[in-house]
Amino acid sequence: MKDIFERLRKDKGPLGNYADVAEGYFVFPKFEGQISNRMKFNGKEMITWSINNYLGLANHPEVKKADAESAAKWGMAYPMGARAMSGQTVKHEQLEKELAEFVNKESAYLLNFGYQGNVSIIDSLVTKNDVIVYDSDSHASIIDGCRLHQGKRYTFRHNDIKSLEKMLERATKVADKNNGGILVITEGVFGMRGEQGKLKEIVALKSKFDFRLLVDDAHGFGTLGKTGAGAGEEQGVQDDIDIYFATFAKSMAGIGAFVAGEKDLIQYLKYNMRSQVFAKSLPMPMVEGALKRLELLRKSPELKNKLWEVATSLQKGLRDAGFDLGLTDTVITPVYLEGSVPEAMVMVKDLREKYNVFTSIVIYPVIPKGMILLRLIPTAVHTQEDIDITVKAFSAIRSKLESGVYKRIGDEMIKQMRQ
Ligand SMILES: Cc1ncc(COP(=O)(O)O)c(C=O)c1O
Repeated sequence: MKDIFERLRKDKGPLGNYADVAEGYFVFPKFEGQISNRMKFNGKEMITWSINNYLGLANHPEVKKADAESAAKWGMAYPMGARAMSGQTVKHEQLEKELAEFVNKESAYLLNFGYQGNVSIIDSLVTKNDVIVYDSDSHASIIDGCRLHQGKRYTFRHNDIKSLEKMLERATKVADKNNGGILVITEGVFGMRGEQGKLKEIVALKSKFDFRLLVDDAHGFGTLGKTGAGAGEEQGVQDDIDIYFATFAKSMAGIGAFVAGEKDLIQYLKYNMRSQVFAKSLPMPMVEGALKRLELLRKSPELKNKLWEVATSLQKGLRDAGFDLGLTDTVITPVYLEGSVPEAMVMVKDLREKYNVFTSIVIYPVIPKGMILLRLIPTAVHTQEDIDITVKAFSAIRSKLESGVYKRIGDEMIKQMRQ
């Protein structure tokens, strides 16, 4: 027999195995100061492109005031207990009503975290007779929700409608045989590459196949659509999204999430999502804080406009400088470069230490081996100066990458690590 602890001391997992060299710098970096376009990292001010504070609400004076006043009034505990037991309040219901109105759905229900929410929505919607068909690039919370499913599930190639059609043909046969239904899951915006899910094309398949559509719009909510209602609104198909999900962790700069759809669906989820039935209700400051954030989303369209101004200028600057930004059609700005993992580490370190620009780094298996993705997340509080400095810095590190400087240093670093 094996001791579980013995095993995990030897194999710390795909990311954990790099902890010795990466922790505190490439993973678990500690930012200091107010959440904004510039923050302190390792004692130095950096232009920060790695925080999903799209609309700049994290540090908005009205938001901070609402959060502080609510915390002073209620503390962080109220209401205690799960919603169904003793955690219900008028404010929770008010927030749900306002969220439903904002995304143009009949009804909505709060989730404590987007991650558990997604898992639980999927888990409670399907039985073993049903079939799930989901995009291969789906967020971990969708994948984990699908893992709980005891029936058949198929993935379709990322944003590939032909592949989805093929899987729907298979799924239809299985569902017909089992007397079950089909749930299709995709995202409004894929957070790593910045591509919108092809919602319009997926919805069009409803004329050929019977299925219900769940859209995770974590990154679309607040950033896309005329009113900010997200990718469905942007693509003109909001009404055809049967189950709409978004988190407060991005545009709303908070914690919590929600699911929206027709009344019967939400009533069912309210009584059956285990992540909510068996967990404490969201604390009041989160709820009142979310109401204030939602009010700002509604009454301050200039925040979304500013976000897009920054994103458009950043993307134009990078494209004009010859960078490959892939297929992004959102504010998320991925920069694709070629290189190994050690090269990527040395390059990102240089970007931070020499040019004071902080980006996240994404490597295999999120993108193919040999590629490096530096992901920039613009916000409404970034400036043109931030953009100019960043584009210049990116051009400088690309020259060094192409000249082989980072490869030499990276190889040396790996050699030393192995000694
Ligand atoms: C696409 C997507 N879905 C779900 C989540 C999970 O949301 P939360 O942070 O509220 O748990 C995230 C990230 O936070 C996300 O990017």
